[in-house]
Amino acid sequence: MSNGGDDVTSVGRGAQDAHRKPVTAARLYDYYLGGIHNFPADREVAKVLLERTPKLRTIARDNRAFLARAVRYLMSVGVHQFLDIGSGIPTEGNVHEIVQAVAPDARVVYVDIDPHAVSESLELLEGNQFATAIRADVREPQAILDHPRVRGLLDFDQPIALLLVAVLHFVEDSDEVRDIVTTFRSALAPGSHLVVAHATIDELIVDERRWEKTQKDYRQQTTTSLVPRKKSDVVRFFDGFEMVEPGLVWLNAWRPEPDMVDEFKDEPERSSFYVGVGRLP
Ligand SMILES: C[S@@+](CC[C@H](N)C(=O)[O-])C[C@H]1O[C@@H](n2cnc3c(N)ncnc32)[C@H](O)[C@@H]1O
Repeated sequence: MSNGGDDVTSVGRGAQDAHRKPVTAARLYDYYLGGIHNFPADREVAKVLLERTPKLRTIARDNRAFLARAVRYLMSVGVHQFLDIGSGIPTEGNVHEIVQAVAPDARVVYVDIDPHAVSESLELLEGNQFATAIRADVREPQAILDHPRVRGLLDFDQPIALLLVAVLHFVEDSDEVRDIVTTFRSALAPGSHLVVAHATIDELIVDERRWEKTQKDYRQQTTTSLVPRKKSDVVRFFDGFEMVEPGLVWLNAWRPEPDMVDEFKDEPERSSFYVGVGRLP
């Protein structure tokens, strides 16, 4: 079994922070999605954020739906290995469930800084020999790439999908984020893919003060900062990749499916998320 043994493996500087402050992005997100893996302190902060941005629940749900569409697309083009970083607390439609329903031996490694997210993932993956979870910090990409359980499950000579879905906006410095993606890219074989979903405040000028408060709340009350970025910054994470159609677009505009309910149809910028998939030539 790949997920036994040293279970919640700690790598990186975020490990200490996660213990210091009670509220984490993982549990806030779980609350937005209607999950049960959150505590009173998380709910208190989440409620304040939801009052300010009631669409947060919709954004979280639509982000999960994008993740599922992207993963189904990747399976359809023959990618059967997934490195899902900032994977979160397991919820409906987890990556391994989507991919292993199609290919039972498809490989998934979940990575998250949040010990709770990792232990819940490991519990769910008990007995699953093709999926595991490790605790690590996306800001230390080489430690993730060198991790024995990552190397044990994923074959880096074959295409891998690197999922950085709703996680890079928790990393503060733009240069650092680009270096992180470059380090991962250098380790990937041709045919690998990068999937990014990223918060932005582009075209939400009227809401800027509200966002400033939201950023302040994340910085002061949670273990992570929230850093929305401009489209021009997000697109640079795909340097070296060829964008898959339709490119970097608003959340629900990436290969929408016919039965999809889209609350942001008339004002896609209200989703405040850019998403895209790139292929490594
Ligand atoms: C909004 S959730 C996204 C979950 C999932 N990727 C999705 O899109 O449904 C963000 C996740 O990123 C994790 N995270 C934040 N900063 C991180 C870091 N530096 N390294 C690894 N994970 C991180 C949080 O713990 C949280 O579980």
